[in-house]
Amino acid sequence: MMVHAQNDFDRLQALWHDFRAYLEYEREEGRIRILVADKTRQRLQDWSASPQPRKPSRTPANPAPKISLPAMASSEKAEVVSVDQIARDIAGCIACDLARTRTRTVPGHGPQRPQLMFIGEAPGEEEDRQGLPFVGRSGALLTRMIQRLGLSREEVFIANILKCRPPGNRKPTSTEQQTCRPFLERQIATLSPAVLVTLGGTALQGLLQIETPISRARGVWHTYRGIPVMPTYHPSYLLRNLNARFDTWNDMLQVLDRIGRRPPPQNNPGTTS
Ligand code: URA
Repeated sequence: MMVHAQNDFDRLQALWHDFRAYLEYEREEGRIRILVADKTRQRLQDWSASPQPRKPSRTPANPAPKISLPAMASSEKAEVVSVDQIARDIAGCIACDLARTRTRTVPGHGPQRPQLMFIGEAPGEEEDRQGLPFVGRSGALLTRMIQRLGLSREEVFIANILKCRPPGNRKPTSTEQQTCRPFLERQIATLSPAVLVTLGGTALQGLLQIETPISRARGVWHTYRGIPVMPTYHPSYLLRNLNARFDTWNDMLQVLDRIGRRPPPQNNPGTTS
């Protein structure tokens, strides 16, 4: 009996944490104002401060994913080397015409052992100039999203399907994607992240080799060679479609849950702004 009561309390508290994180997100985006009586705010703050029920883990605890790629035969296994070595190989790559138009290659950025790896489409103008992923406008939104989750850019790995900018930011061709794919495969094998997050349709379809539209695939767990994959919208889509941010936030809460983390309690859950 006592155990049930504790479980219910944990579940309710987890629900409250998610709901509050969502309200905070909407508030910071300027879409809502929250007015809460002082007494209620104090109670919510006290409750939020009580210990979190779950512990971080690299082992996914959720049910089996919906779609799987066949496991690789050992001869197909991507080579495990250091990400720096892969970045050097990318820098020397002249396998397609993008090598002639790029300013810099954009191999990706992040630690050697990330829990999360984000995969976007291809570098844009700013990324091509700096040699870093997601440093333009959509990158700013991605960074904010990561921070809102209680993570930092330094603890996640961010990469793209293509490592060079397609001229004019056009969509990568399927030949370019296939040519560049081994780099991404090697990165994933080397980094061995607990969860992959694909950003937008091209990243989803490019990684999993499926044609499911992002609007249908998002929010549903997939698998890439045993690694759980959460597809969500691309930040540049979210810049134009504010309503889709709600879906992405929910997708990211699933991701956070899968790595055993929760969005941070905000200092000020019930204030006006
Ligand atoms: N869009 C992407 O898909 N990747 C980047 O690195 C920047 C913008």
